[in-house]
Amino acid sequence: MKVSFKDLGLVNTREMFAKAVKGGYAIPAFNFNNMEQLQAIIQAATETKSPVILQVSKGARNYANQTLLRYMAQGAVEYAKELGWKKPQIVLHLDHGDSYEVCKSCVDFGFSSVMIDGSALPYDENVKLTRKVVNYAHKFDVTVEAELGVLAGVEDEVSAEVSHYTKPEEVIDFVKKTKCDSLAISIGTSHGAYKFKPEQCTRDPKTGRLVPPPLAFDVLKAIEKKLPGFPIVLHGSSSVPQEYVDIINANGGKLPDAVGIPEEQLRKAAKSAVCKINIDSDSRLAMTAAIRKHFNEFPGHFDPRQYLKPAREEMKKMYIEKIVNVLGSNGKAR
Ligand code: G3H
Ligand code: 13P
Ligand code: ZN
Repeated sequence: MKVSFKDLGLVNTREMFAKAVKGGYAIPAFNFNNMEQLQAIIQAATETKSPVILQVSKGARNYANQTLLRYMAQGAVEYAKELGWKKPQIVLHLDHGDSYEVCKSCVDFGFSSVMIDGSALPYDENVKLTRKVVNYAHKFDVTVEAELGVLAGVEDEVSAEVSHYTKPEEVIDFVKKTKCDSLAISIGTSHGAYKFKPEQCTRDPKTGRLVPPPLAFDVLKAIEKKLPGFPIVLHGSSSVPQEYVDIINANGGKLPDAVGIPEEQLRKAAKSAVCKINIDSDSRLAMTAAIRKHFNEFPGHFDPRQYLKPAREEMKKMYIEKIVNVLGSNGKAR
């Protein structure tokens, strides 16, 4: 049986993105795989009155089950209302959809937005696949994110050694032919907690910490010029907060030289046509840091609620910090 996202109280990205591009801020897209992450996201979005995108990856679908995640998102809308958010603006989005069939199944199942990631395909095949997904999704008012350019690191089980920046000369043709609603681009971000190799970075002589190379803002600018006002998406945008890395490493973890995108660069991106910023790894780090610390402090605890509660609080704190201090989406969904 087909379900429309509208019946679940969800919204698509169309209006949200148009406002974000105009307003010079970005919408947070947070991945979720479990209840604690979802609670933290909804509490953070509700308290800050920020529109929010709940992302479900292939890994999340394998881990938690697509049906369960869909009902959790539906529950999240009701939970937000219960917390006092009168008109929640929550999107349920498929992250890195890798086939027409997966995208179709999510559209039929109540997702309000899907990503078709054809970035590893030759250009013409990416166009063809994206167009096919758009044709189907638009019948149900579901919005579609596409991708051009390749991010370094692991992307949808395709691992690229180096990133290939999006070619600005391709974007007009791509958007025209596919009719996608937003475009993920490659300007130097990548997935995970190791976004750059130490040899790509410099070291801060005072702290000894790695300082990553800047994002390719010239490429972003050139794309904006070609597609004025068109919604642009940044994947791989965790900043890998060093305080979490330190807590993890001080409590039995081993994350040497983990490095992310500095927040000031994301702040700058959020003010441009970048209107969706994807964050997953920072949530993983916040959760792991809180749990490792808790176990060290309370070795006798074995009730999951004892260690998942501080983990949830830490994630919520991190989500609020992103919304208020980096993306600027607070107060945009009253
Ligand atoms: O795109 C990558 C996201 O962080 C999702 O990661 O596939 O391990 O769930 P995942
Ligand atoms: P991070 O690994 O930087 O959090 O990126 C997440 C992402 O892009 C999900 O699609
Ligand atoms: Zn991604």
